[in-house]
Amino acid sequence: MTSTPTPADRFSFGLWTVGWRGADPFGDPTREALDPVEAVQRLAELGAYGVSFHDDDLIPFGADEADRTHRIARWRKALDAAGLVVPMATTNLFSHPVFKDGGLTSNDRSVRRFALRKVLRNLDLAAELGAATYVLWGGREGSETDAGKDVRAALERYREAMNILTQYVTDQHYPIRFALEPKPNEPRGDILLPTIGHALAFISSLDRPELVGVNPEVGHEQMAGLNVVHGVSQALWQGKLFHIDLNGQRGPRFDQDLIFGHGDLLSAFFLVDLLEHGGYHGPRHFDYKPLRTEDRAGVWASAAANMRTYLLLRERAAAFRADPEVHRALETSKVAQLSIPTLRRGETYRDLLADNEFDPRAAGEKGYGFVELSQLALEHALGAR
Ligand code: GCO
Ligand code: MN
Ligand code: MN
Repeated sequence: MTSTPTPADRFSFGLWTVGWRGADPFGDPTREALDPVEAVQRLAELGAYGVSFHDDDLIPFGADEADRTHRIARWRKALDAAGLVVPMATTNLFSHPVFKDGGLTSNDRSVRRFALRKVLRNLDLAAELGAATYVLWGGREGSETDAGKDVRAALERYREAMNILTQYVTDQHYPIRFALEPKPNEPRGDILLPTIGHALAFISSLDRPELVGVNPEVGHEQMAGLNVVHGVSQALWQGKLFHIDLNGQRGPRFDQDLIFGHGDLLSAFFLVDLLEHGGYHGPRHFDYKPLRTEDRAGVWASAAANMRTYLLLRERAAAFRADPEVHRALETSKVAQLSIPTLRRGETYRDLLADNEFDPRAAGEKGYGFVELSQLALEHALGAR
């Protein structure tokens, strides 16, 4: 059975995921705080290879130097003992009231300067811990009222910030690339760079676009009613899938951060198929929240469930790809034909215009056989084949 995770599977978790205490807008926390050292030990036991963190997950906001140094040293020791790596780090620019109108794009210039210093400082720690990817999730970069935010100016400030950050890692010779994480809303009414597409367009306007990619989250695209498999495909096609946040979501509603596969299962199947066969080699990072109803045992069960679900889907996707009936159905559906350039080598639009062999009526009458193909995928996903 391949459903037991090992470090070779490259599973990683945010400290804030297993550490989530269950506080929501209507209720108090239902669990005690989790020691980051215990998180590392348990995740390693369960078969993960990595752990990611926000600065504030490790070092409480406002901690003094001595406390900071002590906490970092203690965590480092735990990482080394457990054999866990830190593939990604990020900044908390959303919890403290100072960020209520955003960090990098707050209307208040002094807040923007403070936010940038916070990111720069944690970049040093990220480099020290060997993180290759630095995520920027702009949960507070946005607005509730269009009267209160000049969006064009905000994007200009976002760009200014990204240009400073890429300049910084270049000057410091840090082998770090940035990944922007889109989300349409929550906690802000509307968040800037709401989808993968917005983020990709923004990245192309930067000074060092090669250092910036995306960190799509399954649920965030689904909150926007979008097909996450399409979005991730485009990011891959543009060489911009630097990282990914796997989780589950049931359609456009508040951000559920469910266990991977516990939302749209068929989409999860196709996403795993894409990641495994589409040339993505980065971490399989879970960004989810253990249900508020669970105790500590439930937290670890949920961490294990993310990995097991991924591995089961990976197995199912491999079976789908290996099935001769699927090969036949793919052929009928002409899926591979799409990889053939539309013009022949050396052919010009003049040759194309002169081509009058085609019978649109006959072509219009023929079905593509997508139903059969789709059902085969579903049956493989269900383990029925
Ligand atoms: C969310 C986000 C966050 C970010 C994380 C990194 O669920 O809205 O995914 O969890 O990924 O905070 O900054
Ligand atoms: Mn989320
Ligand atoms: Mn996320």
